[in-house]
Amino acid sequence: MSLKDFPRNQIRKLLTKESNMTLENRLPSYESLESKFQDISEFGLYLHIPFCEQICPYCPYNKEIYHPEVAKMYTRAVKKEIDFYSGLFGDKPVTSFYIGGGTPTTMLHSGLGNILEYIFKNFNMQCEIHMESHPNDLTADNLNAIKALNVENLSMGVEALQDKYLRILERPYNAREVKVVIERAVNKGFKCFNVDFIFALPGQTYGELEQAARELVEMCVGQVAAYPLWRFPYTKMGEPAKQSNYNIQNIFRRRKMLHILEDIFYSRKYARTSVWAFTKEGVPKYCSVTVPLYIGLGASGGSYLRDVFYLNTFNVAEYIKRLEDGRLPIALSLDLSESMQMAWWLYWRVYETRFRRNDFRKRFEKDFNEIYGKYIKIFSILGLITRDDGNEITLSDKGTFWLHALEDLFSLDYISKLWGTSKQEPWPERVVL
Ligand SMILES: C[S@@+](CC[C@H](N)C(=O)[O-])C[C@H]1O[C@@H](n2cnc3c(N)ncnc32)[C@H](O)[C@@H]1O
Ligand code: SF4
Repeated sequence: MSLKDFPRNQIRKLLTKESNMTLENRLPSYESLESKFQDISEFGLYLHIPFCEQICPYCPYNKEIYHPEVAKMYTRAVKKEIDFYSGLFGDKPVTSFYIGGGTPTTMLHSGLGNILEYIFKNFNMQCEIHMESHPNDLTADNLNAIKALNVENLSMGVEALQDKYLRILERPYNAREVKVVIERAVNKGFKCFNVDFIFALPGQTYGELEQAARELVEMCVGQVAAYPLWRFPYTKMGEPAKQSNYNIQNIFRRRKMLHILEDIFYSRKYARTSVWAFTKEGVPKYCSVTVPLYIGLGASGGSYLRDVFYLNTFNVAEYIKRLEDGRLPIALSLDLSESMQMAWWLYWRVYETRFRRNDFRKRFEKDFNEIYGKYIKIFSILGLITRDDGNEITLSDKGTFWLHALEDLFSLDYISKLWGTSKQEPWPERVVL
């Protein structure tokens, strides 16, 4: 057991009462899914496009190099997966829809429109589209094509605004080029245009970070999602010798960098809307699926339906083959006890930096204070909560930072184990978290 396993295991036991979480190679039956859907009133939809024009050395997501002929087969397979779910969903409203990747815009002219049309034909879509894109895909023509698909909210990975860091990250553009793209997308009038941005890069100074953040604000982007550079062991930048996620000096450097970002964004009327995101006043927040229950389509799509979480195979060829054989591409399932469901609920709500006790009661028919009241008291004393009106609880910046440290402790390891194994084996027997 490593040093960081101990606090993680203790916190997990405290919150979920489980000593470990094991995902197993098991397919939920049609009947069990059907019965789960009977008492669900709304849910979210996630669509994964696992293709990119390049493989970035830091990126943990499920992706492979784009080939148009594979994209065609993938389109057919996703439509088969939609056929399966359309019977289950009936006309239950889909109230949140997110297209992520990989890079969804690789399929802009090779099946994406076809899939979207099929989704809107088969499901009761009551929501806007949020979609990720890549700077090299956002030509003027492609932005028109994206608008024609009715994508109202768009995100793009900018990552850095200084050439030396773009080179370290092996991004295929320079700072001047990406700024032109940002301006073009900002002027296109999306409801929210979000840029992803990575900080705490090797050798990055506070001054360089400040300059980049100021430039983003000057360019009037609707939202900035700023992530510290994480090193996932199974990526090129995460080789063990280079790992430093848990280095104390690194954690405090990140704290100072977050302070710099908070100062710049708050002074220019951006509010914190999640642990990582700052959204401009009057702009709706760009975000992934917002409702607690969701279905994930595509290779590596994950679905959460109250007491079960399941994950599709990460392997694109296997995903296509399974669906061509008329079977579901689900690789791993996890049954969640009530304590795990509550901890899951809390984790995601806290991630949004504010949540309501009433929503907890609605979901679990239990009093939030009875379950988590004692922790909230401790958090308040430690200054991790800025506002508590008896119903809504809002995290302070200090609370957000410690949540972010906690995120390192859980998410990075869980993601590394779950995604790392799933990338290596299309159908793992089990993954123990
Ligand atoms: C799916 S990508 C964005 C869309 C598109 N593929 C692109 O690269 O522009 C999601 C974002 O996650 C962030 N990200 C990926 N790997 C990361 C890492 N190791 N550390 C911090 N952020 C990371 C990056 O900001 C990246 O843009
Ligand atoms: S950062 Fe974006 S472009 Fe790079 S590999 Fe990841 S998903 Fe693909």
